[in-house]
Amino acid sequence: MSAELAEQVRRRRTFAIISHPDAGKTTLTEKLLLFSGAIQIAGSVKARKASRHATSDWMEIEKQRGISVASSVMQMEYRDCTINLLDTPGHQDFSEDTYRVLTAVDAALMVIDAANGVEPQTRRLLQVCRARNTPILTFINKMDREVQEPLALMDEIERELGMTVVPFTWPVGMGKVFGGVLDLRKDQMRVFSPGEDRVAGTEEIVQGLGNPALAERFGMAYEQAAGEIELVREAAPEFDHAEFLAGHQTPMFFGSAVNNFGVQEVLDALVDLAPAPGPRAALQRTVEPDETKFSGVVFKIQANMDPAHRDRIAFLRVASGKFSRGMTMKVVRSGKTLRPNTVVTFMSQKRELLDEAYAGDIIGIPNHGVLQLGDTLTEGEALQYTGLPFFAPELFRSVEVADPLKTKQLRAGLTQLGEEGAIQVFRPMMGSVLLLGAVGQLQFEVVAHRLEHEYGVKARIMPARFNVARWVTCETGEGAAADEKELKRFIDGNSHRMALDAVDAPTLLLEYAGELRAIQENWPKIKFHALREHA
Ligand code: G4P
Repeated sequence: MSAELAEQVRRRRTFAIISHPDAGKTTLTEKLLLFSGAIQIAGSVKARKASRHATSDWMEIEKQRGISVASSVMQMEYRDCTINLLDTPGHQDFSEDTYRVLTAVDAALMVIDAANGVEPQTRRLLQVCRARNTPILTFINKMDREVQEPLALMDEIERELGMTVVPFTWPVGMGKVFGGVLDLRKDQMRVFSPGEDRVAGTEEIVQGLGNPALAERFGMAYEQAAGEIELVREAAPEFDHAEFLAGHQTPMFFGSAVNNFGVQEVLDALVDLAPAPGPRAALQRTVEPDETKFSGVVFKIQANMDPAHRDRIAFLRVASGKFSRGMTMKVVRSGKTLRPNTVVTFMSQKRELLDEAYAGDIIGIPNHGVLQLGDTLTEGEALQYTGLPFFAPELFRSVEVADPLKTKQLRAGLTQLGEEGAIQVFRPMMGSVLLLGAVGQLQFEVVAHRLEHEYGVKARIMPARFNVARWVTCETGEGAAADEKELKRFIDGNSHRMALDAVDAPTLLLEYAGELRAIQENWPKIKFHALREHA
């Protein structure tokens, strides 16, 4: 390890924003970029979203696929830190992709619409963060509207997320009488003034939470806030950084993203509180981020803008060492070496950053299928990072080609789409019809469309009788040979409802979830998994 590497790692912050659609993720993203100086004019991120708005229209999504490559990772410099912000696809049918993006971040910023509280999409994403103990910062947005009482919101978040909420700021009033926030740690009030054009450092600050001028100016709203703060101080524990890093406590901030209010505190909190990249678990050993040798893991694959060329961009999170342009990397799974001439890096203020990357940074590697989801790249060491989740699909369709001469193209197309994570493809052990598994209905439509336009295959997507999938493994406790034997016995005995997935993992397919219990009783040594981690 070198001092330079250690310093570069210390300066990195990599996070994602999680929220329910319309809570203000796009607005906040844009304001974070604005406040860090990464963009000069508000509007650029929003423009992108505007065209993405028609989420029910999958043609739009198709069109957007290319565009979103460039903006799915945003890098900004703030204070002495390099901050990587990873976009999470908003539409819930793409949530699987989102889950995988969350494996590449060190912290999450949860944006909650103060009127709506904790919404379903937030809850699901939070579960993933919780499972990984990802530290979470909370931003309560839209305080300029008539919203829920802050105490009620705090209570709801604690209850829903099973996490202790520690307010860093507290709102004075809301909606028309939103006066600003009391900063509990700096002992001051930042006064709200509406407007989209304000920049950092132009807020009016009144020193002293007990300053009589505040009561005079904000009257009832201030009195109420002061009373609530007293309650909160009695009930809520002190902020404990270790508890935050362990995902047990979340610092909470109030603001209004559209009015640029509360945005800078969030940026500061990311720098001050969110962790720098830490060690990562591989099957073989734990890897430190400041080790000299480069390594990284592919967490997302996206088809490129030009479907005719079928090139794809693999998004790789650097886990250790330093990436330099032109370096040779080994794909551990296949043993192939890769020396990409072009590596896509992302929106950044500083050009020189584009040529190198450190732990926590994301690089995009164009390739024609050499890279798959979950792949580990190293300078030569045989390492395989763990933890990239695949979820058991909840929807199934069978797929056939209209023109039997195109069967080969169908298989090729589906293999590629499967590797990209766009859909899960299962090959039943009996019969020749391929099965598609998805988490959201929209995935089937996108796949049919892409098969036709990128692979020239008109596919018939038809109902399938399965509704449940479980990956199966075996634990006899008597060693690998016994495990294998028992697993084979299970597979042979259930071949009419067994399939292999993209990486040949055996999968049990069922019509009803209820069947699972009886099967488990008959096969006590077989384990059924709703989640597979790439390994
Ligand atoms: P999303 O990415 O989470 O889906 O949300 P987005 O930022 O697009 O925000 C959703 C809507 O909420 C937008 O309004 C946006 O302007 C508004 N919004 C965001 N932050 C605030 C806030 O602090 N206060 C208020 N009052 N509204 C906020 P829209 O009508 O859908 O779009 P637009 O007409 O403003 O472009």
